[in-house]
Amino acid sequence: MTTPATIAASGGQAIDAAPPPDCPLAVRGLTVSYGEKPAIFSVDATFPATAMSAIIGPNGAGKSTLLKASLGVIPRLSGSVTVFGTPIDRARDRIAYVPQRASVDWDFPTTVLDVVQMGLYRKVGLLGRLSGRMRARAQDCLDRVGMADFADRQIGQLSGGQQQRVFLARALAQDADLYLLDEPFAGVDAATERAIIDVLKGLKAGGKAVVAVHHDLSTVRAYFDHVFLINVRRMAEGPVSTAFTPENLNATYGGRLGATHIAEFAQAVS
Ligand SMILES: Nc1ncnc2c1ncn2[C@@H]1O[C@H](COP(=O)(O)OP(=O)(O)O)[C@@H](O)[C@H]1O
Ligand SMILES: [Mg+2]
Repeated sequence: MTTPATIAASGGQAIDAAPPPDCPLAVRGLTVSYGEKPAIFSVDATFPATAMSAIIGPNGAGKSTLLKASLGVIPRLSGSVTVFGTPIDRARDRIAYVPQRASVDWDFPTTVLDVVQMGLYRKVGLLGRLSGRMRARAQDCLDRVGMADFADRQIGQLSGGQQQRVFLARALAQDADLYLLDEPFAGVDAATERAIIDVLKGLKAGGKAVVAVHHDLSTVRAYFDHVFLINVRRMAEGPVSTAFTPENLNATYGGRLGATHIAEFAQAVS
């Protein structure tokens, strides 16, 4: 019988070393340390194409670290990252990243439209002029997140949920193939959550891959196809229907969730 302890010890089921070439994000043996103790240790992860994937785990489990180290924003001690079968260094322009909102300094004096246009710099080059067409495209991305009327506002003057929509608009402007989002629904109201999930589902319908750190276990089933459970190490991964189980949640959260909550979130395994 498989117990949470054995799942935790083995880090989930064994996986193939080589990811399929259409795999939007594959991580192998990724270890990151800020000090002596690794924040994530020897993590393997394989995210599926044209799907919405959730990265789930308790506070401090290494979720943000996994995203940032995958992107190369922070250095890794060891491990490799491939994006659509290509080493990450040659695939950066296919990725859009929305950081955890708490980690952004909102006091910088810039307008909403400027923030979205930053997503276009990679296309025009830092010294290139943003044409009227680019401006129109930024405006269109604001429209897609319901923020068209806020283009000239200072970013620091918006509510948390509005700022989150603007950063999603910037990611849309990049026209990427893989969207990485760190807790996109944290601290937003129900209307903004709805608006963001609609945009993300639209991306998936357009053949894109979405990988989001997600903290609300009650919406995993409604929003996501695939889950990756982490607590420093990989605890489990797979389709929501098979990997989002009470056993795996127990192992990942170390009993901190309580049996009632777990039964609520994950369907019982027969
Ligand atoms: N810049 C940093 N310097 C030192 N320790 C950090 C830093 N960022 C994160 N950590 C630590 O690494 C661990 C994982 O953090 P993080 O990836 O942010 O977790 P999560 O996103 O799952 O809450 C935590 O123990 C956290 O305190
Ligand atoms: Mg985090």
